[in-house]
Amino acid sequence: MQTLEAIAARRSIRKFKPDPIPEDALRAILTAAIQAPSGKNRQPWKLIVVRGDKRAEMMKVMRGGMAGRKAEGDDLGSSEWTARVMDQAPVTVFVINPHGKQPWLAHSIDENFQELVDVQSVGAAIQNMLLAALDLGLGSLWICDVFYAYEQLMNWLGEKGQMVAAVSLGYPDESPEARSRKPFDEVVRWMQARAPRHA
Ligand SMILES: Cc1cc2nc3c(=O)[nH]c(=O)nc-3n(C[C@H](O)[C@H](O)[C@H](O)COP(=O)(O)O)c2cc1C
Repeated sequence: MQTLEAIAARRSIRKFKPDPIPEDALRAILTAAIQAPSGKNRQPWKLIVVRGDKRAEMMKVMRGGMAGRKAEGDDLGSSEWTARVMDQAPVTVFVINPHGKQPWLAHSIDENFQELVDVQSVGAAIQNMLLAALDLGLGSLWICDVFYAYEQLMNWLGEKGQMVAAVSLGYPDESPEARSRKPFDEVVRWMQARAPRHA
């Protein structure tokens, strides 16, 4: 698949078949992630792969964290729906920035800038995963609702640093239409209205 076609064809997938992901396909997706560019080539990522028996443990921890939030009166937003997707997916990959701080800790200005750089690098790695998955016939969902169980999941994963996101992967059991995007002209502003004659 050509790159522009793949970018246009990618969708968030929220229904997965139970079929396992072949090891070589999973390795190819993780390899695509770590080929992403990163600020100062810091490669601020650690990828924790949850599959097999560990999925049930993950879901218990996720749902435990969500229940705690609910008990405190917090709105669970879309997390219940997302948890159902994670439960279905044969693989979920947690993406951790090992240099990042827990979000509730105070950050200096320098630390904020550093995290701004690192989170972009991690975003590039995640997008590489999504596009690689598509190329291999797999579906993916980029997930931040794991934040509803942030501490619980980080303790369970045994990781220090900052949880940035998770990505669920599997063979798609749906083919959604493209979701809407803001119009091009609403989000693009040209500093020069016309293309220069000699670019
Ligand atoms: C940073 C980020 C976090 C997201 N978190 C979730 C999530 O927790 N649950 C979910 O169902 N979708 C999540 N999504 C998927 C978005 O809802 C989706 O990308 C958006 O609606 C556009 O749909 P599309 O990906 O099919 O183009 C997330 C996407 C991004 C980029």
